[in-house]
Amino acid sequence: MDTKILKISDPAACRAKVEEAAALLRAGEVVAIPTETVYGLAADAFNPAAVKKIFEAKGRPQDNPLIVHLADARQLESVAREIPEAARRLYARFSPGPLTVILPKRDTVPDAVSAGLDTVAIRIPSHPVANAIIRAAGVPLAAPSANLSGFPSPTGVTDVLDDMTGRVSAIVDGGDSECGIESTVVSLAVSPPRLLRPGVITAEQLREELPDLVIDDAVLHPMKAGEAAASPGMKYKHYAPKAQISIVRGGQKEFFRYAAAHKNEADTLLVFEEDLPLCPIRAVAMGKENKPLTQTARLFTALRELDKMGAQTVFARSPAPVGVGLGVCNRLYRAAGFRFLNDGPKILGVCGQTGAGKSTVCALLREKGMEIVDTDLLARRIVEPGSPVLQTLAEAFGEDILLPNGSLDRKALAAKAFASPEQAKKLSGVTHPAICSLALAQAEEAKRQGRWAVIDAPLLFSAGLDRYCDLTVKVTAPEEARLRRIMARDGIAEEAARRRIAVQAKEDSLSENADHIIENMIPAETERRVEELLLQFGFRNSEF
Ligand code: TXA
Ligand code: MG
Repeated sequence: MDTKILKISDPAACRAKVEEAAALLRAGEVVAIPTETVYGLAADAFNPAAVKKIFEAKGRPQDNPLIVHLADARQLESVAREIPEAARRLYARFSPGPLTVILPKRDTVPDAVSAGLDTVAIRIPSHPVANAIIRAAGVPLAAPSANLSGFPSPTGVTDVLDDMTGRVSAIVDGGDSECGIESTVVSLAVSPPRLLRPGVITAEQLREELPDLVIDDAVLHPMKAGEAAASPGMKYKHYAPKAQISIVRGGQKEFFRYAAAHKNEADTLLVFEEDLPLCPIRAVAMGKENKPLTQTARLFTALRELDKMGAQTVFARSPAPVGVGLGVCNRLYRAAGFRFLNDGPKILGVCGQTGAGKSTVCALLREKGMEIVDTDLLARRIVEPGSPVLQTLAEAFGEDILLPNGSLDRKALAAKAFASPEQAKKLSGVTHPAICSLALAQAEEAKRQGRWAVIDAPLLFSAGLDRYCDLTVKVTAPEEARLRRIMARDGIAEEAARRRIAVQAKEDSLSENADHIIENMIPAETERRVEELLLQFGFRNSEF
């Protein structure tokens, strides 16, 4: 089949080409068209024979229904049997745009489109070329993404040419797709409403209109054998490049630590732009870490690039599955076939400037069911009367650090130990190893039981405990805020509070190297950061 290329940058200026595409569609042909999400493979939704050609061109399984594309909301009645109030609200707010809503279908929609389901997926694209073509065709257009089934969706015309040349009547070149991932799919045909596919319109945004929205389990998890898919598309292998992609759980530091420790297991890295200078081997970037919309825009192109460079084994970073990141993870996890590395329970070290709120963060982690290893508590335990550590201290600093009843005279020990840096070092030389070994024993035991452990240690780095942690977190807050908090908490004057901060200077500078920094100023923000961090590690409360 000859495939005609129609370049349309401005539909008003290219009227003839718009008409040509529309005429092909009316005649029952398949035409690839640009949309703001990805390119689509369009045909007259009311013509079953035309729709059948889409499945043939894509090599798509027949039981996977197609999305019907409309020019505007006035066409809704022509395909949907019922239009609930919630659907009107969603279309009013998010359309035209990257949102697909599933509604009960009218009989006008052939089984070929709905794959025999009683529902139909409907979207009103905002791309001016798509809109002009649908309008000119005068019929709703059924259109899946314009890739060969199982491959990454096409986000530019070259991708479509690669996959569809010779398989369709025409390909309309309308430039690169802005979103880069397919539309958000939400079903209103079930109660409560269900997010079936996340996209650039986020679950958080949808919840403002649909407070009871649930996220389908298949969004982030592989379907279990025999499970029925809410959206048939979710059961198929998707977005998969030829390379074997494995996602390394965690943030930047954990990624590069893992990659360094497993040097020969990957030939290419799939990372964020900021990571590129740190990559010891060839790497492909999928947008900026803190700009999720650049990730969606780049993701599928990056996956296709991996194939073009012949990548075989790829270690990939991934964002936290929240906001737009949920859409990125949904595609990336599938592209990786749900292969995760650096997975499982971890030992997390938490330190923090005094007054920053280390305890607040540890309390959040405790609520999640993690084992909290309190090193302050261990520091007291190791010097209980009769303990070997207390004995060693008495030998090193003199028997007069002991009270008549054999317990530690803290004041006496402090007076001696803080008399000089050498004496202080002597003290920590005895206590730190003892605290470390108890902390580690407790943490390792939790990990062995499949639970996360948190080592709460003001001197995490000074004591060398950080070396035993899988990841480290430093809790910070601006100095003025910390001063105010310390003064209020301990009822002390500003001078005294400043001295406490000064005492921690060494730990404060060592802990600059923590893997993650959490600024604790706004409680809701702190909670969000903690949540996000754990999600990046695949942590689920239900593990416990
Ligand atoms: O952004 C997009 O939505 C792109 C552009 C071209 O508009 N289209 C697209 O279509 O991604 P496609 O066919 O690749 O993905 C449609 C998804 C599939 O996972 C399919 O199973 C699901 O929507 N779907 C379609 N109709 C459905 C229905 N009635 N019930 C449940 N899921 C449905
Ligand atoms: Mg698709």
